[in-house]
Amino acid sequence: MTTLQHKVEAPAGLDKKEAEVYRHLDPARLPKHIAIIMDGNGRWAKRRHMPRVAGHRAGVAAVRSTVETAARIHIPALTLYAFSEENWKKRPATEVSFLMRLLSRYLKAEVPTLNENNIRLEYIGRQHELPADVQEHMGWARAATAHNSGMVLTLALNYSARSELVDAFRSMVYAASQNGGIDHLHIDEEAVSRHLYTRHLPDPDLVVRTSGEMRLSNFLLWQLAYAEIYVTPTLWPDFRGVHLLEGISEFQKRDRRYGGLNHSDSGNGNGHGQNL
Ligand code: FPP
Repeated sequence: MTTLQHKVEAPAGLDKKEAEVYRHLDPARLPKHIAIIMDGNGRWAKRRHMPRVAGHRAGVAAVRSTVETAARIHIPALTLYAFSEENWKKRPATEVSFLMRLLSRYLKAEVPTLNENNIRLEYIGRQHELPADVQEHMGWARAATAHNSGMVLTLALNYSARSELVDAFRSMVYAASQNGGIDHLHIDEEAVSRHLYTRHLPDPDLVVRTSGEMRLSNFLLWQLAYAEIYVTPTLWPDFRGVHLLEGISEFQKRDRRYGGLNHSDSGNGNGHGQNL
């Protein structure tokens, strides 16, 4: 009798370690949208007695590796929390302007690689509040990748989930005012989703946070309602594609119930449990 061996072929471009983790994944149950809270750049630099900005600079290599691996395994959408509204308002001006320069440089340097990997670039956040030259680079990079049909890479820049909800409610009221007045305001979950910055995306099914912190930090609060949360102690500058695959492996071990019962529980309990 022969044993049927199920062997998952790793996609081209993965390195040895990545291919090893990938082989244990179920390619049919990959997340459709992964959101990442990139954290720990400052601590990474401090441990090396370097200025905080050195951590941000090192963080770019982590962005590159994570984005390429996600695209290679055909994750449809990846969203990176690059810069919160709070970062913008509360960090020293020198750090903020360093981050802005780093972003502009990243966009300029990465467009060819994004195109090679068929990645389309999008943004969420209050872009109009960013410096004009940064907005220009952002617009250029988005246009230069707009034809790509593979993964959507969304950068959250000057982003706050609460501001996003405020903007969505304003947008709904404005849409109603243009369409017969407030009596025509129709609000349900689908309407709210359609007015969020993320209207081009499915809700994330996995959110990853680096550096061990257990917070959502005002990131995609509406969209993460049912997401699995994966927290790794790895600091962002040390994060690579293989760590993303480890997060996906953990995701595939979870039992996602969306408030319902799992298969083996149905019919056994009284059905009153809070199965979240
Ligand atoms: C959090 O670390 C990280 C940031 C606020 C910035 C993230 C930016 C990058 C990874 C590089 C540029 C991004 C792109 C998309 C090119 P922290 O400074 O809060 O770290 P700490 O909590 O250890 O102080």
